[in-house]
Amino acid sequence: MAEFAQMLDLPSWSKLQKHHEELGVNIVLKEFFQKDPERFRKLSRTFKNTVDGSEILFDFSKNFITEETIQILVQVAKDAGLEKLRDDMFAGEKINFTEKRAVYHVALRNVSNQPMQVDGKSVVEEVNSVLDHMKDFSDQVRDGQWKGYTGKKIKTIINIGIGGSDLGPVMVTEALKPYGDRDMKLHFVSNIDGTHMAEALKDSDPEDTLFLVASKTFTTAETVTNANSAKHWFMEKAKDEKAIAKHFVALSTNVEEVTKFGIDKENMFGFESWVGGRYSVWSAIGLSVAIYIGFKNFHDFLAGAHAMDMHFKNTPLEQNIPVIGGLLSVWYSDCFGAQTHLVSPFDQYMHRFPAYLQQLSMESNGKAITRSGDYVKYTTGAILFGEPATNAQHSFYQLLHQGTKLIPTDFILAAESHNPIENNVHQKMLASNFFAQAEALMVGKDENQVKAEGAPDDLVPHKKFLGNRPTTSILAQKITPSTLGALIAYYEHFTFTEGAIWNINSFDQWGVELGKSLAKKIQAELDQSGENTTHDSSTSGLINEFKKKAGIA
Ligand code: F6P
Repeated sequence: MAEFAQMLDLPSWSKLQKHHEELGVNIVLKEFFQKDPERFRKLSRTFKNTVDGSEILFDFSKNFITEETIQILVQVAKDAGLEKLRDDMFAGEKINFTEKRAVYHVALRNVSNQPMQVDGKSVVEEVNSVLDHMKDFSDQVRDGQWKGYTGKKIKTIINIGIGGSDLGPVMVTEALKPYGDRDMKLHFVSNIDGTHMAEALKDSDPEDTLFLVASKTFTTAETVTNANSAKHWFMEKAKDEKAIAKHFVALSTNVEEVTKFGIDKENMFGFESWVGGRYSVWSAIGLSVAIYIGFKNFHDFLAGAHAMDMHFKNTPLEQNIPVIGGLLSVWYSDCFGAQTHLVSPFDQYMHRFPAYLQQLSMESNGKAITRSGDYVKYTTGAILFGEPATNAQHSFYQLLHQGTKLIPTDFILAAESHNPIENNVHQKMLASNFFAQAEALMVGKDENQVKAEGAPDDLVPHKKFLGNRPTTSILAQKITPSTLGALIAYYEHFTFTEGAIWNINSFDQWGVELGKSLAKKIQAELDQSGENTTHDSSTSGLINEFKKKAGIA
């Protein structure tokens, strides 16, 4: 529990504000580069991926910072108790105090088997035993030893889950498609909209389909309903309840509900309550990933995250890459009034990465109450959004270049493509855009340049670019399992850093509860006959109109 109430009360906060007044208001990024040829070197950091020796370069130099800014921000982090909170997390302390839980996803990828405990009890053995189970099972499914009820090899995997029980597996299987078993069809059904399940089933044959019911709680309405529909579809053909054992497995913490659903304990892959939903792709929830890319690759994925964990845990804050990322986010949010954070991977396989980060960031830091229970006196969680480039350039980058909003942006590129087609021409074009966007956002185009290009006077203001828009460029070698693991862990610890400075609990998600309970109540009302009058006139009016249109009045 932090000893301070509000970020603004930190001893170093006034220093940061003063620094902002001196530097922030007059900042001209391109002049920084003109004045200091060493700026790129000074303000970049390199992450060494100990799994394969590759490096990821994080270029922070096109941000509104100097070396002094980093020093002051680091002081803010120290005053806010970031190091203690981080160490408490790695020590298995219950830092998610509103749910009285440890925050221990780092223990799931502890591939170096360091001692890790919760409540004085080692968790290493249990984590490894689940991993062994995942290895055995994924090997069996991949090599055809695991057979459906009529003896067929499994060809289709349908993961049923939502939120963290969906976004991680979807994003990672997409991002690591080059490592996937292309003979296997994957579906991820999350939405309660019947269309999602219906479309997956249309494509599938019960005899060779395996359902992974992924739910930490096993009580999430969407997942339980979807899983029951899947079971009905399956039973229509299989008839015999015994066949379920070959086709349904559960990834969950809730043995009781799993058993009630009809899945044998033997077919359950467990994890502990200290794994938050949005941090669960590293747990049994990642089983679809392990099946698709194979356990060796899944292990590398964990190992890459572990390498970033060790960097976060052991590196001084000035050099600590996710800490710098998180501090910059606080700097933009609370000194420059930025409301958003754009993440654009220049990588088609990573097309679901921004969607994954949305849950990580916004479910973690979309909070307005400090750890002491007060309303915050500053803004917290940014609105994270993104799309892969270059597609995004041809849709919303206009607003980045010439709009009125400050949008701190991360660009991600891997130097080596998985598909260097046409003699790598595509990759070079992709990379050129990665460099050009960050450069254009920074340098802009002034009136003289526009005029020199022959623009008529009335068009000059329209063709001008103010520039001076901050970006962080992240350049990896190749998107391998371990690199992806490290990148995800980078954003996890980035989010952790933000939450520590804002003095909020980044690990609960009470904000999703109200809508859930109201939906339950309304669902019961939809089955009642007659006019609904129990809500405000808008809500009741909409309910009545729906019932009429859907023919259930
Ligand atoms: O409602 C939000 C949430 O609790 C997320 O945090 C979680 O990832 C998702 O629902 C799914 O939860 P479960 O895995 O328990 O079904």
